[in-house]
Amino acid sequence: MDVTRQLDETARELRDALTRLPRTLPPRWLYDDRGSELFSRITGVPEYYQTETERQILADHSAAIAEITEATTVIELGSGTSDKTRTLLDAFTAHGLIERFVPLDVSEQTVLDAGEMLSERHPDIEISPVVGDFTRHLHRLGEVASSGPKLVMFLGGTIGNFYVEERRAFLGALGDVLAPGDWVLIGLDQIKAVDRLIAAYDDDQGVTEAFIRNALTNINATYDGNLDVGNFGYVPFWDGRQERIDMRLRAEEPMHARLEGLDLDLDLGAGEEIRVEISSKFRPERLAAELHEAGFDASRGVFADDDDDFALLLAQRR
Ligand code: SAH
Ligand code: TRP
Repeated sequence: MDVTRQLDETARELRDALTRLPRTLPPRWLYDDRGSELFSRITGVPEYYQTETERQILADHSAAIAEITEATTVIELGSGTSDKTRTLLDAFTAHGLIERFVPLDVSEQTVLDAGEMLSERHPDIEISPVVGDFTRHLHRLGEVASSGPKLVMFLGGTIGNFYVEERRAFLGALGDVLAPGDWVLIGLDQIKAVDRLIAAYDDDQGVTEAFIRNALTNINATYDGNLDVGNFGYVPFWDGRQERIDMRLRAEEPMHARLEGLDLDLDLGAGEEIRVEISSKFRPERLAAELHEAGFDASRGVFADDDDDFALLLAQRR
């Protein structure tokens, strides 16, 4: 991969996102070193139920998933610390077929650290970390050699952070790059009481707010910018029509900012918002239908907790 071209593409994408209306931010800006650390803290705040719930579902069903899929290569997209994945790899190791694990993440330090941790714990599995972007580099999964079926995991409810059209493109790209018989395992946050949903993205300690704001700090640092982070208020809300949490930053006062590295002057009026992140909530059947459309048999298993807070959907390429 040509690094200069990749940087240009990233810069162009950000420039477009900030200037087109409504203004948005590509999610990768949330995950610099500080952002990755803040995200780790989010997974531990009392209001954020997703991580522990998904961990429990994995603990209960990993053996079954190893048995059903018989995957020899496991790939994890947006793997982060691969913390929850340890349980799953234990079960795959016990089942005896797994040969290789490929964590892929845009956050270089995070994915390399995770690779090291896993290599120590699983000396019998080849651990091959990849620094990459799952919205652009999925075609590279076709180059991953495998003696048997592949299993691509997408955990943490990250599928919910795509807009509808992005989600369709992502699932389509997965369908394109996988061979018949390969598998995907997707973690999704289920629709539930609105107060619990909002609390999960507006925690009392303010960790989520700090995480969202840090995207602007990261952009300032990367592109020699002077966005006044303190002029923005954090605005999380539930969009009931789209069934998603919407997290925005709102300029309190009119502001002018310059991002030197993007050659961009940005003027925001008082009250104008930047849409930083969404987190869509699902009924498993809805995602199953989208997977079907992308070429998968999505009836291979839905694993959930007793309260149906979260779910893991297992699907096979047709
Ligand atoms: N899977 C982990 C982490 C989820 S947070 C968990 O379940 O806890 C989302 C992860 O996706 C972060 O590690 C972030 O660095 C990564 N990420 C965000 N956008 C990405 C992109 N476009 N390509 C690859 N990784 C991305
Ligand atoms: N995918 C998870 C979620 O939607 C984690 C996450 C992504 C997140 N972006 C976030 C959590 C922003 C809080 C704020 O919940």
